[in-house]
Amino acid sequence: MYTARMNSPETPDTPPTTPDTPAPVQPAPRSSARMLELVFPKDLNGHGTAFGGFVLSMMDKAASMAAIRHCQGEVVTARMEAVDFHLPIRRGDAIALEAEVIHTGRTSMRVKVDVFRETLATGKQELATSGVFVFVAVDASGRPRPIVRG
Ligand SMILES: CC(C)(COP(=O)(O)OP(=O)(O)OC[C@H]1O[C@@H](n2cnc3c(N)ncnc32)[C@H](O)[C@@H]1OP(=O)(O)O)[C@@H](O)C(=O)NCCC(=O)NCCS
Repeated sequence: MYTARMNSPETPDTPPTTPDTPAPVQPAPRSSARMLELVFPKDLNGHGTAFGGFVLSMMDKAASMAAIRHCQGEVVTARMEAVDFHLPIRRGDAIALEAEVIHTGRTSMRVKVDVFRETLATGKQELATSGVFVFVAVDASGRPRPIVRG
C-alpha cells in the first residue's frame, strides 16, 4: 500500500525543506490508487444509506486507476467478483477507497478494493465494502494487449 512520507524528526535522513529548497518529488505509486469521496443525498437508497451501485462505481473507478498505473495504458473492466457489503455507509460519511493490483496475467489484472466509511470529524474508519475486480489492458482498438512494464 502506498503511504505518503512526511518530513519529521523520525526521518533524519530526509533534509528539511525551506521556501528555497523545494520538497523532493515523490513518484506516484505504480500499482495502487487511493480516493476520498463524500456521500451526498443523491447517492442514497430508500434506507438512507449509500446505494450499492454508487459504491460499485467508486470501486470501479479506484480499481481502474490502479490498473492503468500498473499496465501503463488503457484498460476495460472485465469482471467484478466477490463484492461484500459489510457495513452500511451513511449520509455525510466520507468513503475512502484503497485499490491495489494483486495479480497480473498476460493481459489481465486482478485488483483488490477496500472501501472504508469514515467519520470525517473524528477520522474513524471502518471497512464497509471489499471486492476484487478484473481489468484487461487494451490497445487503441479495444483488443487485449500484453502487459509490459517499463
Ligand atoms: C474484456 C475483453 C476486452 C476481453 O476480450 P476477449 O477477446 O474475450 O479476450 P481474451 O479471451 O483474449 O482474454 C484476455 C484476458 O482477459 C481475461 N478475461 C476475459 N474476460 C474475462 C472475464 N469475464 N473475467 C475474468 N477475466 C477475463 C482472460 O482470462 C485473459 O486474461 P490473460 O491474458 O491475463 O490470460 C472484452 O470481453 C470486452 O471488451 N468486454 C467489454 C468490456 C467493457 O465494456 N467493460 C465495461 C466498461 S470499461
